[in-house]
Amino acid sequence: MKQNLVCYRTLDKENPASLATYESIGGYSVWRKILAEKTPADKIIEELKLSSLRGRGGAGFPTGLKWSFVPRNAPGDKYVVCNSDESEPGTCKDRDILTYNPHQVLEGLMIAAYVMNAHLAYNYVRGEYWQPFQCIEKALAEARAAGLLGENILGSGVNIQIHNLLGAGAYICGEETALLNSIEGKKGLPRFKPPFPANHGLYGRPTIINNTETYASVPVILQNGGQWFADLGTPNNGGMKCFSVSGHVNTPGNYEIPLGTPFRELLAMAGGVLNGRRIKAVIPGGSSSKIIPGDVMMDLNMDFDSLGKAGSMLGSGAVIVMDETTDIVKALWRISYFYYDESCGQCTPCREGTGWMTRMLRRFLDGKAVAGDVEKLLDVAGKIEGHTICALGEAAAWPVQSYIAKYRAEFDYYIEHKRSMLNV
Ligand SMILES: Cc1cc2nc3c(=O)[nH]c(=O)nc-3n(C[C@H](O)[C@H](O)[C@H](O)COP(=O)(O)O)c2cc1C
Repeated sequence: MKQNLVCYRTLDKENPASLATYESIGGYSVWRKILAEKTPADKIIEELKLSSLRGRGGAGFPTGLKWSFVPRNAPGDKYVVCNSDESEPGTCKDRDILTYNPHQVLEGLMIAAYVMNAHLAYNYVRGEYWQPFQCIEKALAEARAAGLLGENILGSGVNIQIHNLLGAGAYICGEETALLNSIEGKKGLPRFKPPFPANHGLYGRPTIINNTETYASVPVILQNGGQWFADLGTPNNGGMKCFSVSGHVNTPGNYEIPLGTPFRELLAMAGGVLNGRRIKAVIPGGSSSKIIPGDVMMDLNMDFDSLGKAGSMLGSGAVIVMDETTDIVKALWRISYFYYDESCGQCTPCREGTGWMTRMLRRFLDGKAVAGDVEKLLDVAGKIEGHTICALGEAAAWPVQSYIAKYRAEFDYYIEHKRSMLNV
């Protein structure tokens, strides 16, 4: 199977993160060509559209289309922002791009800034990623020293600066508008949309914001052509995707494979289910995505459309495998606790609802749940979904709704048998 052709393409090299290594595989050749030929921005956007690259941060929005929305010829400042906050439980793919292929992220950001007529780009890195942050800082210094960014880059008259910023450890700052507020020095609270960042982003100015993996895909797309990238995947799901496989597998880790690869092949790459046990369920796209029973998952392909049709989503590409020993109620309680802990508190349904759901689930684990509690849980989840400024509300509600829909009997068992964590 094809592997590591896009974002992890430096992984098998010596000193993978260095400028010399990156240049040895054609790195910055696209950037140099764009500057030398003054490539029209429209041409770059057309190539991205042809590639059918979709955002790798979670929602899977077509990147070329997103870039085409931005009023790039509007007078005044415009910005480019990279979302390296990566805090969704189970997701650690961007960590390895920042650590082992940082120049590709920088090149992607430079190209985006060029397309946008922007002079400034920010890369917002998860607060806990101190080491990856150091790697991309080092790469930035190397690129600056080589004259690849700064003032009058390579004599082209183009001026672009990039700054890496370290977050402070809040999951909510991965939500794009909370992230923009955080860069502005404000509390990381999501903003109402519309207006969207494309028109009213950082400091109220037009802004492109994309995920780390999305930006890192851009130079490779332009180096090999949009069609090449599209052909790696399936129609409407172009390219490769970095998946973080964790949970009950023998070799958890990050795997970059073509979109559309059967899940069973990805599972085999991750060494199969731990200790040869049977698979019970899979969360295919980060902890907020809806759970899929193992037998169903074994026949699905890993792409946006297949998982969407199966009632879940590809999300950030964090695949969490649960084997037959997993207690679904306990797993849900743990996930709910995360969203309760990370809710920014701005919207009442999320602030109060995530706490209610977590406490109710705890009641199950304490052997104190009573008839009607499952309905109450669903009622609270339904009151959160669609009633919050940002999608953290859905991220908290979907697991509750889907775990109950697929594994109702386990919840009822807790109620009927007064099962408690103490005697599990
Ligand atoms: C609560 C929450 C957390 C998010 N965390 C991240 C994150 O860590 N990284 C990321 O790229 N996108 C994250 N997103 C999605 C971003 O808001 C945004 O859609 C994404 O950065 C757009 O980039 P893309 O089009 O390249 O996917 C999050 C969204 C929500 C609602």
